[in-house]
Amino acid sequence: MFDHGASPPPPARNPVCELKRPEVRAPVPAVLLLLCASLLSWTAPSLASGFLDPSIDLPLSPLPAGLHSLMPVPVENPLTTAKIELGRKLFFDQSLSRDGTISCASCHRPDKAFTDGRALPVGVGGRRGRRNAPSLVNAGYGKAMFWDGRADTLEAQALHPLSDPLEMGNTLEAVLARVHEDRFYRKLSNAAFGTALMRSQQIAQALASFQRTLVAGNSPYDRYLLQRDDAALSDAARRGLTLFRGKARCAHCHEGPLFTDQKFHNTGVSWGKVPFDFGRFEHTGKDEDKGRFKTPSLRQLTDTAPYMHDGSVQTLEEVIEFYDRGGTANGNLDPSIKSLSLLRQEKADLLAFLRMLSTMER
Ligand code: HEC
Ligand code: HEC
Repeated sequence: MFDHGASPPPPARNPVCELKRPEVRAPVPAVLLLLCASLLSWTAPSLASGFLDPSIDLPLSPLPAGLHSLMPVPVENPLTTAKIELGRKLFFDQSLSRDGTISCASCHRPDKAFTDGRALPVGVGGRRGRRNAPSLVNAGYGKAMFWDGRADTLEAQALHPLSDPLEMGNTLEAVLARVHEDRFYRKLSNAAFGTALMRSQQIAQALASFQRTLVAGNSPYDRYLLQRDDAALSDAARRGLTLFRGKARCAHCHEGPLFTDQKFHNTGVSWGKVPFDFGRFEHTGKDEDKGRFKTPSLRQLTDTAPYMHDGSVQTLEEVIEFYDRGGTANGNLDPSIKSLSLLRQEKADLLAFLRMLSTMER
């Protein structure tokens, strides 16, 4: 049974790691701990791409090992500590929902790598969502948001949940009235945007800025690969890595530093199940997109069960069984999905490897 009434735990308080700037003193959520070391030894970001605003006040550099050192940030929304701070307050604020019970963090909990641990989320009034809440870890690198990619950026995504009737169920007018009446919000807004009365676009910018700080790298896999630390991976995990790239075909789609090609594929997860969810097709209307969903990152997997867009797969063992039998057959199945005939030992090795994609530092 789902635990409808549960409220999320408050963000973990960490006495040591706080953002460096004197004006920013709020505790940071658990995954941010990964940034501790980098914040304390903060150096100016190196700029190798015209995509970043050179005047950026970037409190995130260097990023944890294994992640691309430049996170794309839209020129019109440079990262500043004031915006991150405002975004953090908005993210954890239940009073932005229609009935005051749900915040972004209700479904994106810091202690679960910003997922909710449920198959399907529960929004205002106990309403059940239709898709599994994805992790927000490393979402700042995402090229498309949502399982079907219907929003391009974190900014474009951020206002959806506030007014989604299955999520926070509010109106933007009510959200604006709420933040305008609150003295603390007015102060934070002034620091972030030079106006006490923020507009909805600025709420989106602040939420996006906060989410860009949710990064996780420096896993045993990263230490093995980048620091040539052979002891970081067991023999089993190393064999699993070879399978991941070879016989098991995982790297066809789960590639690069985030283990995603950021594309959409049909693996047949919910094919034929009611209620129908055609994924990417719902956004593009193209037949070939039927049953395609975004390839999720595999980082921090140990915290993000249950898995897949419908939350139908409970464990990583089951995930491996799913791929071993070649997904669910359907007319649109991705050509990379084939039955794998993995031996029992190979399944165990693959599992050992997948577990090494999470940071162990908490
Ligand atoms: C009731 C649960 C719920 C609440 C509340 C909620 N979300 Fe989500 N979130 C989801 C679900 C479910 C999805 C996936 C929906 C889909 O793909 O159609 C999602 C997707 C996202 C994504 C896209 C991530 C990706 O990689 O595709 C982002 C970013 C996000 N949410 C941020 C937020 C923010 C910011 C808030 C608060 C303003 C919020 N969410 C509130 C459940 C929730
Ligand atoms: C054809 C591309 C493709 C291949 C090959 C592939 N995956 Fe996936 N993977 C996806 C897509 C797309 C999803 C999301 C599917 C959905 O929810 O409908 C996914 C989901 C997952 C998830 C769930 C993650 C989450 O957060 O819910 C895991 C774990 C996973 N894959 C591991 C693997 C492993 C291990 C292999 C190799 C045995 C593999 N994948 C092969 C595309 C692929």
